[in-house]
Amino acid sequence: MLSGLTIGQYHVPYPLIQGGMGVRISAHRLAGNVALNGGIGIIAAAGLALNSDRYDGRNFYAADRQALVDELHKAYEIAPDGIIGTNCMVAVKNYDDAVRASCEGGAKLIISGAGLPMNLPGLTADFPDVALVPIVSSVKAAELIVRKWQKTYQRFPDAIVVEDPDTAGGHLGEKMERIGTGEYDQYATVRGVKAYLKDKWDLVIPVIAAGGVWDRDDLQYALAQGADGVQMGTRFVVTEECDASDEFKQAYLDCSQEDIGLIMSPAGLPGRAIRKNIDQVRQRDVDLDTYCPSACLKKCAYQKSRERFCIIHALDRSQKGDTETGLIFCGTNAWKADRISTVKEVFAELFPEEEQATG
Ligand SMILES: Cc1cc2nc3c(=O)[nH]c(=O)nc-3n(C[C@H](O)[C@H](O)[C@H](O)COP(=O)(O)O)c2cc1C
Repeated sequence: MLSGLTIGQYHVPYPLIQGGMGVRISAHRLAGNVALNGGIGIIAAAGLALNSDRYDGRNFYAADRQALVDELHKAYEIAPDGIIGTNCMVAVKNYDDAVRASCEGGAKLIISGAGLPMNLPGLTADFPDVALVPIVSSVKAAELIVRKWQKTYQRFPDAIVVEDPDTAGGHLGEKMERIGTGEYDQYATVRGVKAYLKDKWDLVIPVIAAGGVWDRDDLQYALAQGADGVQMGTRFVVTEECDASDEFKQAYLDCSQEDIGLIMSPAGLPGRAIRKNIDQVRQRDVDLDTYCPSACLKKCAYQKSRERFCIIHALDRSQKGDTETGLIFCGTNAWKADRISTVKEVFAELFPEEEQATG
């Protein structure tokens, strides 16, 4: 495992990306500390304005962009030489702006999913050193992206993340009825994407497995199955450095396997979360008739017809500690959390021999 991971011109000693987690679950502290420990640290761009001193209640888009640049700068204060990037979701209305702010703020890579990032190379054209990494859940999605990028921009992705809808946290790239049926094969998809890139384009880039990786056994399994690295989210929530509130982390410590399930996001995508408070998440917006203050999504069932709930504020609330009416995204492994550790401890557990080898 010591060969690490190279994406574009960036190299890290460990084949590990910390997945972007919005809203402010992975901000500067988590991303900076993962980068400091030899992984790739990712700041989730979604909804950073909320709770930032840039936001005055009316300037959501401007504040969101400035807050992203601020988070990048603060992450580099923690890990000046680290490899730090952003996660930009195609489904958000200010996606283009988030991508540009990432480049201007010094992101070394942009990981992009929750929709197909078809125009990502166009948005980053002035920053050719920024590595571009789409997230897909199928070989078909990878094909669509690579064909479009080649045809329009003559650019290949620098890596591809294959996210498993059966295990990953947050928004999922598969239809609700097809999740958890046993049909999906995460590592067949990883190998399928690699084979497509090699056979069709003679391209060898890292293909990263996301979803369901908790410990060293999972990591070794992923690598043995053909992944070049892993992207981990849930495990990093229960670290001291994670940017979420103590209450959010405690919800992971307290949850059982049965508490974790699927919800339908107002974005029209399924998501995985702690389901037991989902009625309160909805009820709060009904009781308060919450007005849509941010217009954060391109397509939002709540903004359009008050269906479901206002997701950005539901995620903001849980991040700040309201785990009664806040939405708590998590992967299927959250129930395994039994203590809060440091990012350094997570790395030491995942890479014990390498830790010894590097002293
Ligand atoms: C709390 C939480 C928030 C997340 N938010 C995002 C997000 O904003 N954008 C995104 O692309 N993925 C998001 N994800 C997915 C993670 O980046 C990662 O790919 C996934 O959780 C990996 O699976 P694991 O949690 O089993 O390790 C989120 C996951 C969690 C647990």
